[in-house]
Amino acid sequence: MNINSKTSIYGIIGHPIGHSLSPLIHNYAFENLDFNSVYVSFDVNEEDLKDAIIGIKALGIKGLNVTVPHKESVIKYLDRISDEAKLIGAVNTIKNNSGSLEGYNTDVTGFMESLKEHNVDVVGKNAVILGAGGAAKAVAVGLALLGAKSIYVCNRSIDKAKELSIHMENNFNIKSLGISYNDLNMLDEIDILINATSVGMHPNVDVSPIGEDVVAKAKFVYDIIYNPEKTLFLSYAEKYRIKYINGLDMLINQAIDSFKIWTGANFDKKIILNFLKKKDFVK
Ligand code: ATR
Repeated sequence: MNINSKTSIYGIIGHPIGHSLSPLIHNYAFENLDFNSVYVSFDVNEEDLKDAIIGIKALGIKGLNVTVPHKESVIKYLDRISDEAKLIGAVNTIKNNSGSLEGYNTDVTGFMESLKEHNVDVVGKNAVILGAGGAAKAVAVGLALLGAKSIYVCNRSIDKAKELSIHMENNFNIKSLGISYNDLNMLDEIDILINATSVGMHPNVDVSPIGEDVVAKAKFVYDIIYNPEKTLFLSYAEKYRIKYINGLDMLINQAIDSFKIWTGANFDKKIILNFLKKKDFVK
């Protein structure tokens, strides 16, 4: 990499930021396409967020990804928000368009593309989402945009589950209900079951948000976690021979979508996957 006075700066803003794979992916993409650009991490506290966002314009930073805990609070500092990002109430990608800051959500596009890639038909299906945080919201909006018939939102704090289900019914032609983990026992069959909580993520790999008896009712299972590759939750799906996918496709798709928004260029998914395999992030 040859950094000079013409190098364009991109990055990710969050707190904490250490675990992100995004710098690895985007810098590899820049190098591979011979772009004079670099992608760096900015660890920014809540109280410094406003100054940091204003600084994007002053410093001429070309684009940023936004991660926990800033995806929602960043919106008030931006000049324009995409329709999807508005519906989700969260932005994970900022483009500095000649001084105007545009907010997008590529978590949702990345999620939707991953379902298409795996030939998962969502139209008219019933779905259960575990979790009601930022990731769950992107998943719920993605399912609704793909034509799901109903969504149960299951969350530890039931108030957040109800809030998300009301948001879904208000914005889409969809049935949605906020439920507790106990309520899952009452369901007979689940077309699409998605874990959008952080339960089972490295290093806490010995836990699953739900037991295998509930997973066994599903026809398709998705865990948005990508580390470990196979969570305990997904191992239940495997045990019952249910089709499943992990969060790696969503991660890479959102990176490709952000890259496209910033640069207009397409980056080949297979090349990123091979690179991550070489780096031992993917088996
Ligand atoms: P993200 O943006 O990754 O979705 P978040 O908004 O903090 O992060 O949401 C985390 C989700 O994981 C929430 O739904 C949270 O449930 P609560 O709203 O009840 O906190 C869920 N979660 C985290 N740890 C959990 C645990 N130990 N058991 C059940 N749910 C958990």
